[in-house]
Amino acid sequence: MIAVIMAGGSGTRFWPLSRASYPKQFLHIIEGKPLLRVTYERIRLLFDDERILVVVGADHEAETRRLLADTGVHVLVEPFGRNTAPCVGLAARYATWKGVREPMVMLPADHYIADVQAFCDAIERAGVLSAKGGIGTLGIVPTRPETGYGYIEAALNEPVSDGVYAVVRFVEKPPPSVAATYFQSGRHFWNAGVFVATPQTLLEEFAEHMPRFAERLQTLDAVFGTPRFADVLASIYRDVENISFDYAIMEKTRQRVFVVPVHCGWSDVGSWASLYEVRRRDEGDGEGNIVQGDAFTKQCRECFVVSEGHRFVAVLGLDRALVVDTADALLVASLERSQDVRSIVEFLKGHG
Ligand code: GDD
Ligand code: MG
Repeated sequence: MIAVIMAGGSGTRFWPLSRASYPKQFLHIIEGKPLLRVTYERIRLLFDDERILVVVGADHEAETRRLLADTGVHVLVEPFGRNTAPCVGLAARYATWKGVREPMVMLPADHYIADVQAFCDAIERAGVLSAKGGIGTLGIVPTRPETGYGYIEAALNEPVSDGVYAVVRFVEKPPPSVAATYFQSGRHFWNAGVFVATPQTLLEEFAEHMPRFAERLQTLDAVFGTPRFADVLASIYRDVENISFDYAIMEKTRQRVFVVPVHCGWSDVGSWASLYEVRRRDEGDGEGNIVQGDAFTKQCRECFVVSEGHRFVAVLGLDRALVVDTADALLVASLERSQDVRSIVEFLKGHG
C-alpha cells in the first residue's frame, strides 16, 4: 500500500491564526506541531517514507517541504488547488506511472486522531479488501446532524467481511433536514475523508465520470520527473472542474464501495470549538479552561484563550469564551459561534 496526503486546503476557520498563506495543516494547534507533521508521523506506523506522497499547491510547497525536510517523502506540486478530485486523479496517474499496482490510501492533512493504532488498523483492513477492487472508506459514528461531512449509508445486513459493510449510498454534505434523518437512522456513518483503492480502480472511475480529465492525465506520463511537468499540469488544471472527489466520484461510482467503521477519536478539527473539544481532554484545567501563551483566566469556565505573546491577555468571569490574540488581530467570540469566524474573513476581504 502507498499513502497520499492531500495537503492543499486553504483555511479561514482558524482566523486570526490561519490566513490564506497559512492554512490549517500548518498551524501548531495540536501536540505543539503542525497538523501536517502530525499526519505524517501518524502514518509512519504503516508506511516508509518512500511510500508516502504529499500533494500540495504551489503556494504551499515551500512550507510543506520545510516541515518535511528531514523525511524522504515525495512532494507532488499542483499549480493551484482544484479541490480533491483533480488531486486524487493526479496522484493515481503518478502512482500508475511509478508502477504501483497495490492500493493507495488518500488522507486529509489536517485531522486529529486520538487512537492512532485503531486508525491504522482500519486503513490496513481497507487496504487488504480494496486490493481486489472497489473503494474503501472509513466510517465514524455520527454524534450530531452535521451538514459539513459526507454520509455513508451502510448495508448493515450485508457484511463484506467481519465488521466491514457494503455501502448503499454516499451523500456529500446533505442539507440539514436530510442530515437529521441520517443522524437518526443508525445506518449512516460520517465519511472520515479517507479513501482506499488501487490507482487502476481510481483511474477507471475518472475515465467514467471525468473522461476529458482522465484522458489529459495520460499526457503526464511523458513528462513526470522532467522540467516540463509543471507546464503540462498547469494546462490540464486550467481546464479541469473545481470539484471534490466526494461529489465527482463517491456520489456517482458504480464500483463496489465498502465502509470500515472505526472508533479512533476522530476529529476534523473544523472550528475553534472542535479544537477546544479535542484539547480539553488533555489540557483543560478543573474548570475546563485552556490557556495557551502569555494569558491568564480568573473565574472563567470552559474558555479557550490563545495568546501569541504580543501582550499579556487576561480574561475574567466569562463562560465558553474564545479569545485569540495575534500581532495584528484580536478575536473575542463565543465558542458556540466559532463556525462563523469565516464571516469575519469574508468581511475583511470586502474591506481590502
Ligand atoms: N492537494 C490538494 N489540492 N489537497 C486539497 C485540495 C486541493 O486542491 N483541496 C482540499 N485538499 C485537502 C485538504 O487540505 C484536506 O486535507 C482534504 O483535502 C479534504 O479537503 P477539505 O476541503 O477539508 O474537505 P471537507 O472537509 O470539506 O470534506 C471532506 O472531508 C470530510 C471529513 O473531514 C469530505 O471528504 C467529506 O465527505 C468528509 O466528511
Ligand atoms: Mg476538511
